[in-house]
Amino acid sequence: MTINYSEKIPNNVDLANDKTLQRALEHWQPRFLDWWREMGPNDFASSDVYLRTAIGVDAQGWAHYGTVKMPDYRWGIFLADPVPGRTVGFGDSFGQPAWQQVPGEFRSQFRRLIVTQGDTEPASVEQQHRLGHTCPSLYDLRNLFQVNVEEGRHLWAMVYLLHAYFGRDGREEAEELLARHSGDVDKPRILGTFNEPIEDWLSFFCFTYFTDRDGKFQLKSLAESSFDPLARTCRFMLTEEAHHMFVGETGLGRIVKRTLEVMKEIGSDDPAAIRRQGAVDLQLLQRYLNFWFSSSLDLFGSEVSSNAASTFANGIKGRPDETTQYQDHVCADSSCELEMPDGRGGLKKETVGMRNAMNEVLRDAYIKDCEIGLKRWNMQIKRAGRGLELKLPSRRFRRAIGAWTNIPTDTEGRPIPREEFDRCLPEWIPSAADKNYVKSLMQRVVEPGKMAAWIAPPERGVNNLPVDYEYVRSY
Ligand SMILES: [Fe+2]
Ligand SMILES: [Fe+2]
Repeated sequence: MTINYSEKIPNNVDLANDKTLQRALEHWQPRFLDWWREMGPNDFASSDVYLRTAIGVDAQGWAHYGTVKMPDYRWGIFLADPVPGRTVGFGDSFGQPAWQQVPGEFRSQFRRLIVTQGDTEPASVEQQHRLGHTCPSLYDLRNLFQVNVEEGRHLWAMVYLLHAYFGRDGREEAEELLARHSGDVDKPRILGTFNEPIEDWLSFFCFTYFTDRDGKFQLKSLAESSFDPLARTCRFMLTEEAHHMFVGETGLGRIVKRTLEVMKEIGSDDPAAIRRQGAVDLQLLQRYLNFWFSSSLDLFGSEVSSNAASTFANGIKGRPDETTQYQDHVCADSSCELEMPDGRGGLKKETVGMRNAMNEVLRDAYIKDCEIGLKRWNMQIKRAGRGLELKLPSRRFRRAIGAWTNIPTDTEGRPIPREEFDRCLPEWIPSAADKNYVKSLMQRVVEPGKMAAWIAPPERGVNNLPVDYEYVRSY
């Protein structure tokens, strides 16, 4: 299986036979490359990196592995194979044939969703753009770049939809996707979390664990969409997304492993003693988890949302695994009970129409998925004979969107007085001292097979290669 480098935009959408679309995308491509050179991992443009490249959608052989300089990467457009006779799986049009074009009345809703998803892809590349300089190993450096190029491809996936189905508006939105930048004062990225800087690898692993997982759930619900090209695009993106979460989960697991080794070596679980050995104490890790989890929860939007109700009713965005996980796909009359703030420092139960609670349904599924890694890490800790347990904070903790915005609670979600919250917050999320300590750990390690002192080696290398393979050359 090889890559055809004479083909400008590899694809399975028969681009060669749609000259107008091909020209439009070939016009956008140099702008994308300019953006990549400016905002991507640009100090590594001449490095040879061992990367996988999507070359098709066949489950057996969808990717090609090889060494490539990142600016020469082939960002292609791939849609999962169509499902013959596919019908609308939820909402008011349930059971009708799926749509091959965007219905006029839902055009702006679809466009907004695609733009919002598309915006997160280049945003994360921008957030991570300086991390290469402080990599804990060549293996990790390669994984960072793998995530980066695939987020680039995800941007291509959304830009394809905008160009192919949204005419002039779509083309303009595609330009804007390269004009907004993460953390930019005048033109920030659309969603909050994607403007948070990622300056250290602990944050990077938390981001890939928590924030890429938000991506997974957004993609899963868009993969249910009645607009078939969007569904098929997202279905294939999920194949790549799995690796991003793998990077997060194994990265955090390797940090826990190393910390437990240090505890054993020094016979102590005192955070200060652990830090003297250059490892990450578990309390520090807990504060990073608290920060990135609470920030990522906001990405699902408000608990009660008429917008969510309308995208569900209109067949635009379903629930993850809509077909297999639910009986009622219309949800016109059902309701659910949510715990909401009562405005007097307490809680109250509120009955909400199911469609209006779709964001919360998605958030539920996400939280469950987040717990899997914690269970695994806690097993490691328990096996090492340590009493500490890592925990996800409550979904009510430190929220900036939805019913719990600015409601002070502890990490268990109990409403507390504002003063107590302000006093305790530095113990709950990374303090300036924590960040400085983590920063001090970020020393570049690039000898093949060597790892920084704060992280254990991975169990295996990439694509059956050994861990000490030289995954990145001439950095
Ligand atoms: Fe992505
Ligand atoms: Fe991702």
